[in-house]
Amino acid sequence: MAHTGTHSQPVRACLLLVVVSVWVQQVDGVWPLPQQLDQSADRNSLSPQRFSFTYGRDSAAQTGCSVLDAAFKRYFSIIFPDFTKGSGLLMSENESIRYTSSFSQLVYQDDYGSYFINKTEIVDFPRFAFRGLLLDTSRHYLPLHAILKTLDAMAYSKFNVFHWHIVDDPSFPYQSRTFPDLSNKGAFHPFTHVYTQSDVMRVIEHARMRGIRVIPEFDSPGHTQSWGKGQPNLLTPCYKGDVPSGSFGPVDPTVDTTYKFMESLLKEVKFVFPDSYVHLGGDEVSFACWQSNPNVRTFMEKMGFGKDFTKLESFYMESIMNMTAALNRTSIVWQDVFDYHERIPQDTVLEIWKGETYQAELSRMTKAGHRVLLSAPWYINHISYGQDWRNSYAVQPQNFSGTEEQKKLVIGGEVAMWGEYVDATNLNPRLWPRACAAAERLWSDEEKTLNADLAFPRLEKFRCELLRRGIQAEPLFVGHCKHEYDGL
Ligand SMILES: *[C@@H]1O[C@H](CO)[C@@H](O)[C@H](O)[C@H]1NC(C)=O
Ligand SMILES: *[C@@H]1O[C@H](CO)[C@@H](O)[C@H](O)[C@H]1NC(C)=O
Ligand SMILES: *[C@@H]1O[C@H](CO)[C@@H](O)[C@H](O)[C@H]1NC(C)=O
Ligand SMILES: *[C@@H]1O[C@H](CO)[C@@H](O)[C@H](O)[C@H]1NC(C)=O
Ligand SMILES: *[C@@H]1O[C@H](CO)[C@@H](O)[C@H](O)[C@H]1NC(C)=O
Repeated sequence: MAHTGTHSQPVRACLLLVVVSVWVQQVDGVWPLPQQLDQSADRNSLSPQRFSFTYGRDSAAQTGCSVLDAAFKRYFSIIFPDFTKGSGLLMSENESIRYTSSFSQLVYQDDYGSYFINKTEIVDFPRFAFRGLLLDTSRHYLPLHAILKTLDAMAYSKFNVFHWHIVDDPSFPYQSRTFPDLSNKGAFHPFTHVYTQSDVMRVIEHARMRGIRVIPEFDSPGHTQSWGKGQPNLLTPCYKGDVPSGSFGPVDPTVDTTYKFMESLLKEVKFVFPDSYVHLGGDEVSFACWQSNPNVRTFMEKMGFGKDFTKLESFYMESIMNMTAALNRTSIVWQDVFDYHERIPQDTVLEIWKGETYQAELSRMTKAGHRVLLSAPWYINHISYGQDWRNSYAVQPQNFSGTEEQKKLVIGGEVAMWGEYVDATNLNPRLWPRACAAAERLWSDEEKTLNADLAFPRLEKFRCELLRRGIQAEPLFVGHCKHEYDGL
């Protein structure tokens, strides 16, 4: 599993091979900042009637790449909102869609409606291969359209991974083929608050067409209260003294039926989600219920775990990581699994979520040779008054003590939008443009993006561009956009 490349798999077959430069022209910059961008004052007018995207001479794909053709079509109508078809400009590269995306930000219109583009040279490629965004569809249900729209906005900012935290304690909206009762009984509503198989396919396809991979998370053994409603005997019965209290704890790691269930579920996940990664969670497991249960205590003795419940948790996670490997999928797990466990399959990707100590954690994990994703400083469901995007922008994922080899093990990061206080009413303004700060950090050259004050006008402009494209991005500060959100 190479560090680069693997993340563009869904689109890779037809894109690739790069041209190196695209001569176009430009307004005030592009978000996220390309690796090289040379703008000039040489202004040319563009005629929508005579404009088209074509494949570059050196492009691996020449014609008939459906992903690119569809992107050309979409971006044509973004660039020329008043037209629906046209003809001439040439571009190509490793990530052609993303060039198209930069290009679309360079075209501008004067007050009479004419289109212009300044002569501009762009050379571009991502700094990190994994640029993710997490949505949580368990704490609140997000309607399908909210997810699709988020994917659109992700593509504008060059995010390339949708981490779908699809289920959790509060609800189980994923409608399983194998275990329909999980959503029948575990969703907020079995018909209106579920993702059917065809919904999931639509998300995956919409994402694929935008160069975005979809990684589902089925978080266990904790965070599974909703699973227990439709799958009897999966969760551990908690005890009060000698009798069951009627409440349930994490998944019961002591019985065979649990592993049979997890294996069937993971087989289905492999079938439904084509991506080579699966997120297995593994965070925040509370031990009190396990400790109260006499069968669990007997199992602990039998296994020689003593009173160390982290060993029990490790045993469970190792079993399902092994299962995942046997299904030819790579596991991603939250940092807890590493923190409690010495033996993690080497190719498992670890994701850091604990805020205070993330630099030390980056050092430890990469020292152990694991690939790492950084999410801790990008929990943008947290909001505060003012320009909090600057905090996200200041994050340097490779600023920790370690060798160059260790730094290379940081494969990227993720913006997380946890759903306790978020549903479709406030998702977009909370995400955008705040997530754009991390998008630039993960895409652009570190040296060229150190100064948030310099980035600010470019981000302001990009936020207006998001509004023009129909994304309800909140303001960064006092000001106005040519195309305001109309409030309808
Ligand atoms: C684009 O060209 C116009 C006309 O020459 C010039 O005024 C403007 O500053 C240029 N824009 C950029 C970003 O270079
Ligand atoms: C594009 O891909 C080619 C071949 O796959 C590789 O040699 C080249 O370095 C890549 N260029 C960029 C800018 O990533
Ligand atoms: C395992 O997965 C990789 C990457 O997704 C794929 O290229 C390979 O063909 C798969 N191998 C098997 C045996 O399915
Ligand atoms: C996981 O797989 C490894 C390597 O095959 C094996 O040594 C280990 O015992 C397995 N762990 C569990 C809990 O099954
Ligand atoms: C790197 O991290 C150290 C320690 O937290 C901090 O003092 C320093 O300012 C950081 N450097 C950059 C460039 O962010």
